[in-house]
Amino acid sequence: MSTSVRVQVYDIPLFRLLKTHSRIKIIVINSRTVSNYDLKNSISKNRMIGLWRMMTGFRLIYLAALLGLGVAALAKTATYLLLRRFIDEILGQGYPWQTLALVAVGFLVLALFEGGFTFLSGRWAAQTAEGTALRLRNYLFNHIQRLNFTYHDNMKTGELIQRSTSDVEAVRRFYADQAIGLGRIVILFTVNFIAIWFLSPQLALISVIVVPFLLIVSIFFFGRVSKRYEAYQEQDATLSTTLQENLSGVRVVKAFGRQDFEMEKFEVDNLEKYARAKRLVLMHSLYWPSSDILAGFQMLLGFVAGAIMAINGAISVGTYVAYAGMVIWIIWPMRGLGRIIVQMSTGLVSCDRVTEIIKEDEEPLNVGSHAPEGHTRGELIFDDVDFAYGGGESVLKGIRFSCRPGQSVALLGSTGSGKTSLVNLLPRFYDYTSGSITLDGVELNSYTRKYLRSQIGIVEQEPFLFSRSLRENISYGVTHEVTDEEVYEAARAAAIHEVILSFPEGYDTRVGEKGVTLSGGQKQRIAIARALLRDPRILILDDATSSVDTETESSIRKALQHLMEGRTTFIIAHRIQSVMNADLILVLDKGEIVQSGMHEELVARTGIYRDIYDIQSQIEEELEQDLELAVV
Ligand code: CTP
Ligand code: MG
Repeated sequence: MSTSVRVQVYDIPLFRLLKTHSRIKIIVINSRTVSNYDLKNSISKNRMIGLWRMMTGFRLIYLAALLGLGVAALAKTATYLLLRRFIDEILGQGYPWQTLALVAVGFLVLALFEGGFTFLSGRWAAQTAEGTALRLRNYLFNHIQRLNFTYHDNMKTGELIQRSTSDVEAVRRFYADQAIGLGRIVILFTVNFIAIWFLSPQLALISVIVVPFLLIVSIFFFGRVSKRYEAYQEQDATLSTTLQENLSGVRVVKAFGRQDFEMEKFEVDNLEKYARAKRLVLMHSLYWPSSDILAGFQMLLGFVAGAIMAINGAISVGTYVAYAGMVIWIIWPMRGLGRIIVQMSTGLVSCDRVTEIIKEDEEPLNVGSHAPEGHTRGELIFDDVDFAYGGGESVLKGIRFSCRPGQSVALLGSTGSGKTSLVNLLPRFYDYTSGSITLDGVELNSYTRKYLRSQIGIVEQEPFLFSRSLRENISYGVTHEVTDEEVYEAARAAAIHEVILSFPEGYDTRVGEKGVTLSGGQKQRIAIARALLRDPRILILDDATSSVDTETESSIRKALQHLMEGRTTFIIAHRIQSVMNADLILVLDKGEIVQSGMHEELVARTGIYRDIYDIQSQIEEELEQDLELAVV
């Protein structure tokens, strides 16, 4: 018998401990369990503080990693000090072999300590880095899908991908290599400096003469590398976007024979990335020799000064040997310091880029005073509604109409007239700028988005299917268990059931990337089935049958007729036949309702509706005549 327990894990080391030391088999049901910590708490003006906060849950283990480095450094220095005593006091003095053995054991123990703690601290630092990055990636994924529509309208997909992958990776490196590396440098420097100070304060001072110069050089390069790295990452994101768009639009590219044009565009972007990378690398490669020269000079100075002192008898031979060993561990960190500082700048820039996303507020799904228990009736009243996208010009002006529960409203109008914008206000994808919309007598803005979306089924103008099975696509977003029969029923209503059964794998057929294995009309019908299965009180069909032939459309319409009962339905369509049975037809033009009423009234009057009607009837008549001729 197996039992699964749903747990919330905030802390990965603890989770590992539980996993390895408990008899209960822990299955991570949902990797969100590790991302429950709200990273918004870690935002700080100071990036260092931000990064420190981001480590919540790992800080202790990270400090332990630093402590481990300290122990390892002490062991290393102690080795040199032991060597000094060995040379000065034991070597050549004819001590018994027991003493020699003791010294040997001493060396061995110190070596073990150094190696052991270096290993442990590396492991702990890696755990912190990987754990934090894991959490960050989960957080970003979850956060990005909760940001509002306006954010996604304005942000490029490539940029978001770049930030959730490459920038997170740079943050990971910050913890794994750079911050820990800095700690290692500081510790090695301090421990060895103090040890040398005790041997000879004079030597200690000589050993750090170039430190200020090295620091100046490092800081000089730090600023420049930061800027260049930022520019590089930006270009990298541009390139990702170009690539991503090209892949999504590969059919358009082929159809228009624009491969060469696209290649040139990509090449320009790619070349720019190359140029920026070159500028970045140039900074790195300038830094290395300059810091090497300084470090080499320091080394020479230290060795020579030490040698002179040893010759003069100011220090013993053992002290000199120990010094020669330790001074390397002062100079090496100094040289490394610059490198780490320079590399850290990349981690900090990436941290900023990631924080910019974290800072964005999620669309509040549960905010609103009104979230009734039951279903909505679906009575809608629009009163003088204006709407504009992100502070731009109004795309909807003075919209005024009302519909009773269960009525169907059709929207007709030229492209760009605001039909999609109007229906997108209902699930609060966007909020209207002024005027009032009430649902069952309550202002739409006071409903929670979650409630509205649970009541509204929407077939998008360009439906998107996931690369999962057809069954999963149809039952997507249904929270309760659905039976096969329910899925079939929805599919039948959308006139897609038979088509699905004709596939060898039926409902288990997987949809290719973006549903390419399905035709446009089939995709639309799957999307209709998906919306119907949710059993919504308000149904929105945004041009849902535009890619479907007239015959299929009329069979969908018949099936929908029955399904539309009891639901308020919005139908956006271009064919008069699809809208003529609606209880209310609204004709939109440039964001305004120019005509409204039922089919009979509208045909009787002159206006856009009548014009469209005339044109479409004429085309149909001609078609019929052609058909008759063909039959004869
Ligand atoms: N628009 C915008 N930002 C968006 C979507 C649309 O600024 N995220 C603008 C469009 O440029 C257009 C207007 O809003 O000028 C209305 O767009 P829409 O409601 O999508 O028009 P539809 O009537 O749905 O047009 P179509 O028949 O082509 O779907
Ligand atoms: Mg539209």
